[in-house]
Amino acid sequence: MTTKKKPKVYVTRKLPDAVETRMRELFDAELNIDDRPRTKDELIEAVRSVDVLVPTVTDRVDAEIIEEAGPQMKLIASFSNGTDHIDIEAAARRGITVTNTPNVLTEDTADMTMALILAVPRRLAEGARVLTDSPGEWAGWSPTWMLGRRIHGKRIGIVGMGRIGTAVARRAKAFGLSIHYHNRKRVNPATEDELEATYWDSLDQMLARVDIVSVNCPSTPATYHLISARRLALLQPTSYIVNTARGDVIDEAALIKILREGKIAGAGLDVFENEPAVNPKLVKLANEGKVVILPHMSSATLEGRIDMGDKVIINIRTFIDGHRPPNRVLPFR
Ligand code: DGY
Repeated sequence: MTTKKKPKVYVTRKLPDAVETRMRELFDAELNIDDRPRTKDELIEAVRSVDVLVPTVTDRVDAEIIEEAGPQMKLIASFSNGTDHIDIEAAARRGITVTNTPNVLTEDTADMTMALILAVPRRLAEGARVLTDSPGEWAGWSPTWMLGRRIHGKRIGIVGMGRIGTAVARRAKAFGLSIHYHNRKRVNPATEDELEATYWDSLDQMLARVDIVSVNCPSTPATYHLISARRLALLQPTSYIVNTARGDVIDEAALIKILREGKIAGAGLDVFENEPAVNPKLVKLANEGKVVILPHMSSATLEGRIDMGDKVIINIRTFIDGHRPPNRVLPFR
């Protein structure tokens, strides 16, 4: 009996133990036990000799890296839902298949989106700091102290009604918000009925009418700065904006400006334009209670990460067995 040679798989970041163990069983896997982010040169060196690259959202797999791939490297199995960190066109040109890990982060991301939708108008982060930053100084309850704004009965406008947007809508409806959405395509009538959702083909029109905007669309060339300075200016002064998708969907400099000018009421951000750098002006706004900022953690659950790992493994195995992997990502048209 001949033993089949295991594919060489290069994993760029530390993954949950259960995922790494399975990868070692199935593949000739080079893991990153100390979780030090890999440099561009290290990635180039890896793609020259491995069969499969497993990057995450923290690796920029650009055309330069892809062009250095050896002829044996035929798969980039990303440990991520989004794939904006990979030059998919360049991969396609080199005949390299790209896969991702959709579906398994939907509920976790929607939960944290809802947490931000509550946290900003209800001043959750500010309130939580009162007892920890100045212990003993709290003077007690007062009728006019720490007043936020009610979310029940307000309108939410969801930008991008895919899986995550729809999961956010379900939660928002349960919290008494009425659902409005903008999407490239209208969702099916059964979902619209279930959510009692109002579709806006004009994003501008929707933004001008809702109380809370939730950004849930992927980062693509078409959504870069979709929420531009012009569109931010359409928002009502009492409105809030929440982003758990990708930082570059919003023009961050323009957002900071209108927050500073008090032209909207607040923002909740889990993602930033230049991650992991966070604009100090946003940090200042957060310290003043105008925004709540989180370090890209909306999908961060152990269960979710294990499910992502399972998807990566299935994609690799299917591909190595000569079949089309279930989560293939095609270039944008
Ligand atoms: C992804 O996988 O795209 C997420 O942004 C990680 O949180």
